[in-house]
Amino acid sequence: MAVRTVLRLGDPRLRQRAQVVADVRDPALRQLIVDLEDTMAACSGAGLAAPQIGVPLRVVLFGGGGPNPRYPDAPAIPRTLLINPVLTPLGPEREEAWEGCLSVPGLRGRVPRWLRLRYQGIDGEGQPVDRSVEGFHARVVQHECDHLDGLLFPDRLSDPTAFGFIPELEAAGLIPAVPA
Ligand code: NI
Repeated sequence: MAVRTVLRLGDPRLRQRAQVVADVRDPALRQLIVDLEDTMAACSGAGLAAPQIGVPLRVVLFGGGGPNPRYPDAPAIPRTLLINPVLTPLGPEREEAWEGCLSVPGLRGRVPRWLRLRYQGIDGEGQPVDRSVEGFHARVVQHECDHLDGLLFPDRLSDPTAFGFIPELEAAGLIPAVPA
């Protein structure tokens, strides 16, 4: 068990471009995967990217948490470890929704994302991953893969005023209150 510290906005390591993984059998990569799993479980995140725990490699982990309360009708996202991802938008449509990030704790902002998306890469065993997804699943993948290019969701706000602290946004009726 190795729960790592999640870096927060302002740490320059979140702004680096992460490097391509050359060898999925590298023992350091095996340890990174365990650490991502342990840290994401400890933080109850929807996803986590290696740069968020200070490792500049193109590795993201997401899904596996069951249906999302914000998209109750959307299929649950399977737990996915994705290495060297390549994203291809499917069509011109975008969708706006509120996002948060473990590296931007306590805040939410409205972010436009591609509605439909194909993502490709390899999993932790070196097997190919190739999926076409939409909605919340597509959003999570775009958010996590942005971390690999040093981007965080506040960089992509559609409107700089559509951003704030969770209790204030809930009080203003801008985001649904989360049941205690
Ligand atoms: Ni994030």
